[in-house]
Amino acid sequence: MKFFVDTADTAEIADLAATGLLDGVTTNPTLIARAGKDFIEVTREICGLVDGPVSAEVVALDHAGMMREAEILRKIADNVCIKVPLTIDGLKTCKALTSEGTKVNVTLCFSANQALLAAKAGATFISPFVGRHDDNGFDGMELISDIRLIYDNYAFETQILVASIRHGVHVLDSAKIGADVITAPPAVIKGLFKHVLTDKGIEGFLADWAKSGQKIG
Ligand code: G3P
Repeated sequence: MKFFVDTADTAEIADLAATGLLDGVTTNPTLIARAGKDFIEVTREICGLVDGPVSAEVVALDHAGMMREAEILRKIADNVCIKVPLTIDGLKTCKALTSEGTKVNVTLCFSANQALLAAKAGATFISPFVGRHDDNGFDGMELISDIRLIYDNYAFETQILVASIRHGVHVLDSAKIGADVITAPPAVIKGLFKHVLTDKGIEGFLADWAKSGQKIG
């Protein structure tokens, strides 16, 4: 399973990229606004920090406008992936861009039928929002299972990119279901490294090592 970080904070991205475990980045207009930097400039900076895809989202709602914005965004760097909303115009844009070889992430997916349509439109990634689905009384992970089943039934190559992740259990369940990618905020990814027994174990080992009076090297 690939790990993407869901942020436009370049310091956080650089920090995670240094682990060698980061496969890509996703952004959205909210995250770009939060970063407080020029969209094009910050996207270019992010593209230089990771080798994998960096999702940059269009804000136009019509097909022609989306195509115009995508043209500007895909010139930023070779690893830009155009993010479009799951609407009729969004999928029309997805079809046009992927036919030309541009990677597309279809976002704001809340149903398995929407995911089916995105796959038919040739989406590189489909982004179902599990956290927001849960927040509204639905079962986000059930949506991921349904999409996995449908994509496997028809051997669709669209990758399931689990988005709107709130905690480690979402990550664990995504891996059990066989999602292709998760995108999570930096704090959630950093939390995956941690366990209270790991910390306690290190503390115990270091205390005993100090008593031994030995050194390495
Ligand atoms: O970037 C898309 C998605 O991950 C947003 O998550 O936390 O705003 O629901 P959230």
